[in-house]
This record gives sequence, C-alpha cells and structure tokens, in this order.
Amino acid sequence: MDNLSVTSLSPPDRLLCGPGPSNVGRGVLAAMQKPMLGHLDPDFHDILLEVMDLQRRVYRAQGAGLVIPMHCTGTAGMEAGLASLLAPGEKIIVAQCGFFGRRISEIAGRYGAEVISVEADWGESVSNEALLAALDEHPDTRVMAVVHGETSTGIEHPVQELGAALAGRDTFLLVDCVTTLGGVPLEFDAWGVDYAYSCTQKCVGAPPGMSPIAVSERALAHIRSRDTQVPWSFDLELLERYWVERPVVYHHTAPILHIYALHEALREALEEGLETRWARHAEAGAHLQREVKSRGLELLADPDHQLAPLTAVRVPEGVDGKAVQTRMLREHDIEIGGGLGPVAPPMWRLGLMGSNASVATADRLLAAFDGVLAEEQALTRAT
Ligand SMILES: Cc1ncc(COP(=O)(O)O)c(C=O)c1O
Repeated sequence: MDNLSVTSLSPPDRLLCGPGPSNVGRGVLAAMQKPMLGHLDPDFHDILLEVMDLQRRVYRAQGAGLVIPMHCTGTAGMEAGLASLLAPGEKIIVAQCGFFGRRISEIAGRYGAEVISVEADWGESVSNEALLAALDEHPDTRVMAVVHGETSTGIEHPVQELGAALAGRDTFLLVDCVTTLGGVPLEFDAWGVDYAYSCTQKCVGAPPGMSPIAVSERALAHIRSRDTQVPWSFDLELLERYWVERPVVYHHTAPILHIYALHEALREALEEGLETRWARHAEAGAHLQREVKSRGLELLADPDHQLAPLTAVRVPEGVDGKAVQTRMLREHDIEIGGGLGPVAPPMWRLGLMGSNASVATADRLLAAFDGVLAEEQALTRAT
C-alpha cells in the first residue's frame, strides 16, 4: 500500500484586493459547512425558492421573467445570454472598451451573430450616443450589450440612461453585471434590462462558481419562441424546470454547498441594505482613488466614469509593475491585479469588493503598496 505523504491543504491567508475573487466572510464560509442535501430533496427545493427570491431582491428584478443563479462562471452566464437571445445571422451591438466587452463580441461571433462593435480606448467609456447611432444604422439589431463595470479598466457604463433610450424598442439590453451586482447601484426592472449576468466572487461576497442571472419577461418570451436550440447547459427553459417548477425536473446535479453560500451572501447583502452596501463600496473606492492620486499616480479610467469597486492605476514609467504585484503577494499576503490581456497598458488593478469594501482595507492595502513601490522606485533609480 502507498504511504500517503500528502497532508491536508493549508492555503495562505491572503487579502484579495485584485479584480476578484474577493475574500469570503465568515457567515458565507459557515454556510458551506451546513449539512449536505441531495439536489432532488424537497427541502433543498425550498432553499432554491428562497435563493431565487433573495436574488430577485438584490437585482431589483421583481418584474423579471426568470431570476436564477446558473452553476457556472461569469463567462458562461454571458455565453448563456448570448446563446439564448441570438440566432445565427442576427445583429448585436457591443460596447467595447476593454477585455470583457471584447469577450462578449468574441462569444457572440462564435454563435454566428453579426457583431457591430462600438469601441473606445482603454480607460475611456463608449458613449450611449455612439451606441444609439449604431442602432439607428442597424435598427434590426437583436441585442445591445454593455459591460456595467469593465473590470479590465475600471470604467462604469451609464446603463440607466441607455435603458431609458432603448425603451419602446425591440432590441434587447444585455448587461454584464459581474463586477457591479451587490456593489454598485443596479435596478434591473427600472432600467429596462433584458438579460443580466453576474458572478458570485466579487461584490456579492461568495466563492466563485456561480453566475446569478436575470431575464426580463419579454426576453424570456422570445427565448420560449425560438425555433433553434441552445446548448443543453445554457437552456434556460430546462433550467427553469428544475429551479421553478414543482415537482422539479432534473437537469444536472446542483452545487449544493455553493447554493448555501450564495443564499447567505445574498441574505447578508439585503440585511445590510442595498443602498448602504452601495454607499460602502462608493466610499471605499473614492477613498482609495483619492489616496492613489495624492501620491502622484495616475488612474486609467476617465474620472467621469470611474467604477468604485475597481481602481486601475497606471504603472509609472520605469517601474516593474509585475515585481510590485509579486512582492505585495509574497511579502504582504495581499493580492492585487495587473493588466488583463496582451494589449492592456501596464497597470495595477486594485479591487475593494464585498467585505473588503472599506476604508480600513483600502488603508491596509495602501500602507503595503507605499512601501513596496518606494523600494521598487529606489531600485529603478539605482539601475
Ligand atoms: C466584467 C467581467 N465580465 C465577465 C467576467 C468573467 O467572469 P468569470 O471569470 O467568472 O468567467 C469577469 C471576470 O473577472 C469580469 O470582470
């Protein structure tokens, strides 16, 4: 018999101040230690109903046709929406000012859609005027897609104004809420969003592994009337039969403990109060941004569209951005992000999300960052 020399895991205790995942609070971790149930247990089905109700409240989506967490990544939540709303040859207008807008275009292209990208430089925001001009040029567009919080640059898109401008039009509004749900004001119903997807690992405050989505009544009606099939795992009608219908119809084995975690994270968000939570993220982000600028560093995002939970900081000339990131991790147990993708300008991405969205966490991050940066700058001067 083999001698087992591998011990149980003992991962380091890190402060996760990058673009996500963020740290998970005690209550959420404790929820994952509750007794396992089977995915076909009627008591578990009551929990599903409660999770959907909590998620509806956090999305402010009481009027939506379907609100469920998908058991997948944020990217797969994005893909599920694109697969469900678009048929080959149909048009989608995509606001593209960073990595994740580009990802929407790429996935839509894989489903055979005609992609009309409206682009802006890194750190800029795509204007709603430009998106609406593209729609005037292509009035038969099926989907207009925007990223509410572009995590690769720290840009927040004014979704509310876009939703108002699209009212009364047939084009569906698809919004990436991966970095905004639970941390930035978001009103699914009132803003006229048709499909929103998020993730659990950022401002929601749960571990990665699920994508909470919301689908409007009219988008759901469209999905029900499709005559082309979508991939099995993204079939919202089949998922609805598990989540909503009783008795449930098996689709796949649900990740029970993750659902407990999401339940607790959503419950805590509502217990805190959404407005209070949004204000906490805004205060922490504004504090960090002010402090970073006061050190003579430059933020990447247009200040008129700066996202609160994610601050992108340009790496000063001559400084090795990656070395700073590595030393933050190794010497201070603090994770920060770098630029995402091959065309991103050199940057650090600092995230204050979920339980980390506080002035105290920002100050802890800054104290470590100041020391590391000063040493790296001294090294630059010496060489
Ligand atoms: C804005 C945005 N959209 C989509 C995603 C993709 O989410 P995931 O990594 O869970 O697939 C991310 C991930 O960071 C993101 O920040």
